[in-house]
This record gives sequence, structure tokens and C-alpha cells, in this order.
Amino acid sequence: MLLLQILLLAVLLAGGDNEDAFQEEVSFKIIRSSSFYNHSWVKSRNSAWLDDLQTHGWDSNSGRIIFLHPWSKGNFSKEEIKELEKFFRAFFITMPQIIHRYASQWKFKYPFEIQITMSCELHPGGAIVGFNGLAYQGSELIHFQNNSWLPSPKGGTRAQDVCRLVNQYHVTKKMVERIISDTCPRFLLSVLDAWKADLQRVKPEAWLSTGPNPSPHRQMLVCHVSGFHPKPIRVQWMRGEQVQQGTQQSGILPNADGTWYLQVFLEVEATETSGLYCRVRHSSLGGQDILLYLGKKKLGPHWEWE
Ligand SMILES: *[C@@H]1O[C@H](CO)[C@@H](O)[C@H](O)[C@H]1NC(C)=O
Repeated sequence: MLLLQILLLAVLLAGGDNEDAFQEEVSFKIIRSSSFYNHSWVKSRNSAWLDDLQTHGWDSNSGRIIFLHPWSKGNFSKEEIKELEKFFRAFFITMPQIIHRYASQWKFKYPFEIQITMSCELHPGGAIVGFNGLAYQGSELIHFQNNSWLPSPKGGTRAQDVCRLVNQYHVTKKMVERIISDTCPRFLLSVLDAWKADLQRVKPEAWLSTGPNPSPHRQMLVCHVSGFHPKPIRVQWMRGEQVQQGTQQSGILPNADGTWYLQVFLEVEATETSGLYCRVRHSSLGGQDILLYLGKKKLGPHWEWE
């Protein structure tokens, strides 16, 4: 029985190690947030996101997309990107005009916030679901389904009024339909591939430091690992072949480029640090663990490993 439990545990741990972030749902979202201050003043922010990682911005002076990463274009051609920029430029000009014009009829009270989201989500089975919605003051008013706009459940009669009008813009509806059912899914898959290829090139960097001494005779050792992806990683304090007990781990924190950062702490007697090293195991290292020995070189970033 005990053996079975150990085997099960081993299987679970191994499974955890192989886990790939892309087996979870992943979405690509374009978000436009507009603050309508008064009848003639609106300020908008546009951004696009792959899950929590911002991939694109918008330069409103030139009316061009800002690509935040080398892989942010996916496999889209220059022509296709130009076409999208053209659509967004037109949409970003007409949308506020329509909202200003109908604000009083729809009982939008200045100042107010409008958020428009266009997105598609890849599910683990491979299905991709598109979404387009408009929210007033943070609550969804209308959303797009089967070629037209529908009032959202909490939108009331205002949502019905808005739908009645926006459903008359047939060209825009066609374009929205194309973006969420074709452009967005194609882009999501290609940008994911480009991102994965980019991440495979990065390898984690590790270094050691000491934390504040917990007491006069004890020392806090810190092993830092940064720039790894995917998330599963094993960082251990070792002596010889012996994994040291009593280590503490920080949460795994995100870096701005989509990779991760982690610290692992070990508290020891100041006289018992000899032979200690930090071992980093990660799928990107191809079986070549990073080993950082204490006391060989000075502590700090860019500590060299062997
Ligand atoms: C609209 O709001 C902006 C920003 O608050 C302000 O500068 C401008 O004078 C306002 N215009 C009118 C017509 O109230």
C-alpha cells in the first residue's frame, strides 16, 4: 500500500514537471477603453493581450499598431496588418461619434466609461471561441453572436436600444464577424507559435545572494532564478547529493516578457555553509542543471555556473 502511494506521488510529481502552460485555456484580447468626459471630449486607450501579457499598443498619432515583442506579428503579412490598421482607424473615429450622438437617448451620463473587447479563446481541446462585447461603466451591455449584436442579460431596455441601432451597420457587423471568427483565431495560433519559439531560446539565469541574517550566528542564503518558461521548475539547496530540508520558496513572479522569477531561501548556521550549492532543473536546460556553489565567487547577479 505504501509503495503504491509512493508510486502515485512520483507520477503526480513527474506530471507536474511536464505541465505546459499552453495546455490551459489561452486567449487573445483587444481592449479599447474610452472615457467620455463631456459632449466633445473623449480619451481612449487601446491594447492587446495574450492572457496577462500585453502584446500590442496603439499609436493614435500615426494610427498604427505598436508591436511590443519581436513575435507580436505572428505570421501575419504586412498587407494583412495594414488592412487591420485601416479597419481600427475607421472604427476608432466613428465609434465615439456615434456614442456622443446617442448618449442622451441611451441615457449615458457624462462622464462615463465604455469598454469594447474583441477576443478569442483557445480551449484545451483545440476549439476557439470568439467574443465581442461592449460595456458601459464596467457592466456588459451588448455582445456579438451569430452575425449580430444581442442585448446582454443585465443591459435592460438600454441594451435593446443600442442593439437596434448598431445592428444597422452591416459592413461593421461583417467585419466584426470576420475578426472574431477568422482573423483572431488565426492570429492567436500564429502568435502562440511565435511566442513559444521565442521562449525556447531563453534559458533561465540564476545567482546567489545573502538575505538579512536571521540571528548573529545564522545566515539566510538566497538562490534567485529568473527568465524561465514554462512555469514548472525545481530549485533546491544541496550539499553533495543531499537535498537540504527546511528551504522556503517565494511565489513564482511574472517578468515583463512573459518569463518567470523565483527565489529559494535556506537558513543555516554561519559555520555550516561549506559545500552548499543551489541546483536548478528546468525543461529548457536539456538535462544540464545549473549548479551554483556558495563561496566560490562573490555573490550577486550574473554569478557564473558550471
Ligand atoms: C470637456 O472636458 C475637457 C476635459 O475635462 C475640458 O478640457 C473641456 O473644456 C470640456 N469641454 C466642454 C465643452 O465642457
